[in-house]
Amino acid sequence: MSAAYLAAVATRRTTYALTAKSSVSDEKIAEIIKHCVKHCPTPFNTQSSRAVLVIGAENTKLWDMVSESALKGMAEGDQKVAQAGKLKAFGGGYGSVLFFEDQAVVDAISAKIPTLAKQFPVWSNNATGMLQHAVWTALCLEGLGANLQHNGAYSDELVADIHKTFSLPKTWTSTAIMPFGDPAAGPGEKAFGSLDDRVKVFKA
Ligand SMILES: Cc1cc2nc3c(=O)[nH]c(=O)nc-3n(C[C@H](O)[C@H](O)[C@H](O)COP(=O)(O)O)c2cc1C
Repeated sequence: MSAAYLAAVATRRTTYALTAKSSVSDEKIAEIIKHCVKHCPTPFNTQSSRAVLVIGAENTKLWDMVSESALKGMAEGDQKVAQAGKLKAFGGGYGSVLFFEDQAVVDAISAKIPTLAKQFPVWSNNATGMLQHAVWTALCLEGLGANLQHNGAYSDELVADIHKTFSLPKTWTSTAIMPFGDPAAGPGEKAFGSLDDRVKVFKA
């Protein structure tokens, strides 16, 4: 029963070579995101996770902002050129999914259950990770290439710009950005460590 799901888990990969095209319709992509937001778990079913889909010129606008912010403080040189190239490639995809957690929801449940207040931000982070994984996997299953970026989660100024540009509530905390598009090339090789070192089984 789980074989198809496990195969899907292995299908999800990081693809950096993205084109500005998508063989999947915008409606289908939005449907995938809504399905994942609806069904991915959140602590105490608080439904704190949020997602924003930006496509085409809106995606270019997003990555222009991210690039400007990320490159601003960097010294001129090879590293800056390499970083600029990477950011250009992300913006050169078809679209991006921005992930957020609504801090208002996290604060409300923390106030409601003060004994767990310290845990809720951690669990909120776990929840957005689960959502990111579900969306990433589904996009890959549709044949799209995607990767996960955290540039948007770094600077307060950039996050404020993103909020303003896309009219998002200020309580939405940015957790990651996932650029995607039809892949120009497949993912790279991936090395795996020993699973015996990573997974322990105890059986009486
Ligand atoms: C929590 C998390 C954060 C990540 N952040 C980044 C990132 O900021 N930039 C990036 O290029 N890849 C990022 N990645 C992707 C990983 O580098 C990638 O998943 C890993 O190398 C395994 O490759 P795979 O995705 O092809 O399985 C992140 C992955 C995870 C799970």
